[in-house]
Amino acid sequence: MAEVQSDRAVASIPFLPRRWTAADIPDLTGKTAVVTGANSGLGLRTAEALAARGAQVLMACRNEVKAAAALEQVTEAATGPKPEVVPLDLADLTSVRRAADHLDVRESPIDILVNNAGVMALPKHIRTSQGFDAQFGTNHLGHYAFTGLLLPALLRAPAPRVVTVSSIAAWGGMINWADPNWRVLYVRWLAYSQSKLANLLFTAELDRRARAAGSTLTAVAAHPGLSATHLYDAGGEKGAGARLAALQQRLLVSMAQPDRMGALPQLYAATMPSLPGNAYLGPAFESFGYPRRTLRNPLAYSRIQARALWRMSEKLTGIEYDWGAGTPD
Ligand SMILES: NC(=O)c1ccc[n+]([C@@H]2O[C@H](COP(=O)([O-])OP(=O)(O)OC[C@H]3O[C@@H](n4cnc5c(N)ncnc54)[C@H](OP(=O)(O)O)[C@@H]3O)[C@@H](O)[C@H]2O)c1
Repeated sequence: MAEVQSDRAVASIPFLPRRWTAADIPDLTGKTAVVTGANSGLGLRTAEALAARGAQVLMACRNEVKAAAALEQVTEAATGPKPEVVPLDLADLTSVRRAADHLDVRESPIDILVNNAGVMALPKHIRTSQGFDAQFGTNHLGHYAFTGLLLPALLRAPAPRVVTVSSIAAWGGMINWADPNWRVLYVRWLAYSQSKLANLLFTAELDRRARAAGSTLTAVAAHPGLSATHLYDAGGEKGAGARLAALQQRLLVSMAQPDRMGALPQLYAATMPSLPGNAYLGPAFESFGYPRRTLRNPLAYSRIQARALWRMSEKLTGIEYDWGAGTPD
């Protein structure tokens, strides 16, 4: 029987206004925010909204050309310091280290980190540079490593906030402990669901460790419901498979809410003060609507699984978090 973490965090979130929008984001003047995957979809909308409220936005992106186009859009929205692009490929730990070093060298605090980038249900089994499954490697391990390497910069902020973007798909997730990188049998949706459950377990454990270390860092999670973005463009299939995938993509996008709406839960999670640790925000009607507190897969409350995933992530990436005095376990 899994040990279960209490859901005090969720229970103590005050009732959210029904129509919380980007206009309700508090003034972010003087704050620095890093958003992964900020060149597209929810990440781009998040970067725009944070920059519009005065934050210095650092857009961590893997594709230079797409990032340059997105930078123009975010710059147009910005009311504070000019946003910048930081090259980051979460599927390559060398790139993750380079990006974190680049950010740390600035010696300025990072107030907000939005772990947003992701890939979904890739039809072919692709591996990251270090040989991890692309979904586990990008969505979870890359963000685990990036957050850990940014910890010194996060801890320089008075009340750092780490938001990790999960998904409704986490409901179907289980950690494949025997084979987390799907070497024996790759089932693409199970791989995606695992990575999104991992995002929730990571949030719970990061928040617990922060509190154990006496830090003011808060880790929270959000999901966007079903939002019209490029996430559904995975491609890579041929013939009838490709036609079916294109049809499925059109169908999903036609039912989805606009990306600006989908970004609201992660914006709420990133900016609203006094949000309790390990809170989980999502759309009011699960796949669409304004943000509110939401429920999660019961497995995401398992402290045993959260700890075990943390240890596995330490081992696979070789990165241990440095909390300064008194490293928690
Ligand atoms: N849209 C939805 O309905 C939905 C539902 C549930 C959860 N989500 C989650 O929302 C998050 C954002 O997705 P989205 O819907 O906005 O999709 P999107 O438009 O495809 O954006 C995904 C972003 O992640 C970036 N990315 C992918 N692999 C990366 C890597 N190895 N290194 C760095 N960046 C990488 C992409 O960069 P490129 O442009 O270079 O590919 C892109 O900027 C994901 O975590 C996704 O799982 C979305």
